[in-house]
Amino acid sequence: MPLSGKVAVVYGAGGAIGGEVARAFAREGARVFVTGRHRASLDVVAGDIQSAGGSAEAAEVDALDERAVDRHLAFVIGQAGRVDISFNAIGLPNPKQRVPLVELDVEQFSLPIATYTRSCFATARLAARRMIPNRSGVILTVTPTIARTGTPLVGGGGPAAAAVEALTRGLSAELAPQGIRVVGLRPQAIPETRRIRESFEAYATASGTTREEFLGVLAGRTHSRRLSTLTELADAAVFLASDQASGMTGTIVNLSMGSLDD
Ligand SMILES: NC(=O)c1ccc[n+]([C@@H]2O[C@H](COP(=O)([O-])OP(=O)(O)OC[C@H]3O[C@@H](n4cnc5c(N)ncnc54)[C@H](OP(=O)(O)O)[C@@H]3O)[C@@H](O)[C@H]2O)c1
Repeated sequence: MPLSGKVAVVYGAGGAIGGEVARAFAREGARVFVTGRHRASLDVVAGDIQSAGGSAEAAEVDALDERAVDRHLAFVIGQAGRVDISFNAIGLPNPKQRVPLVELDVEQFSLPIATYTRSCFATARLAARRMIPNRSGVILTVTPTIARTGTPLVGGGGPAAAAVEALTRGLSAELAPQGIRVVGLRPQAIPETRRIRESFEAYATASGTTREEFLGVLAGRTHSRRLSTLTELADAAVFLASDQASGMTGTIVNLSMGSLDD
């Protein structure tokens, strides 16, 4: 198993992507610490992992609270002795999506930029401090394709995603000499996630079409004429977290199904 003996911490593990990646990490041999803001969804993920014979432990951790993240990492080190993989998959509600930029309040514009970068910065650097003594570790981020496209009505979401990608590269430049790889995942929209179901429903309504038609238009822009799946993203995350990806750092893995050129 490619992640055998590895210890992983997943932030936002109660969500669609965090949960799926946590399950995949565990299936491939990692001991997984699943964290998020609300216990109930974390217990479901940890329970699934344990039922499948894997190792998981759930904890409530606000990934915006640096002290809470630090306390939890101290707990992980106490339990498992090390941390090898850190994956930040938090996702914020974005009620101000679909408001034109010229009408968007400056605070609302800034909120996702400040929040995503703050959380990715805090979780990454605190994990890195535990990884540096081992001269080994992998830090993963995940961003939507709006990091790279001019997309209307996403408020500060596009700049936030672009900032997380820039942070991913910057962390790699500083940490790779110390044996720590930092890599981003940039999937296409994943229709099976609630986030995409709800936001595409709203976009479709606003543009006088149906969600299926809206999804069809987006899928039509990809080479494969379809969008991403959670399984595809989780499989890529497993590979990137494994030693088989030792040549990959400081890059954002383009899983846009051909809709974005590198
Ligand atoms: N879904 C897609 O198709 C897609 C594609 C590309 C990129 N992404 C990105 O991937 C990330 C996750 O997406 P998703 O679809 O999995 O979203 P999701 O299902 O809404 O999950 C997000 C999770 O983050 C948790 N969370 C929010 N704030 C947190 C905090 N401060 N500390 C800890 N956990 C926190 C949420 O917990 P609570 O609900 O308890 O607050 C929720 O469990 C997002 O950043 C999104 O932009 C998603």
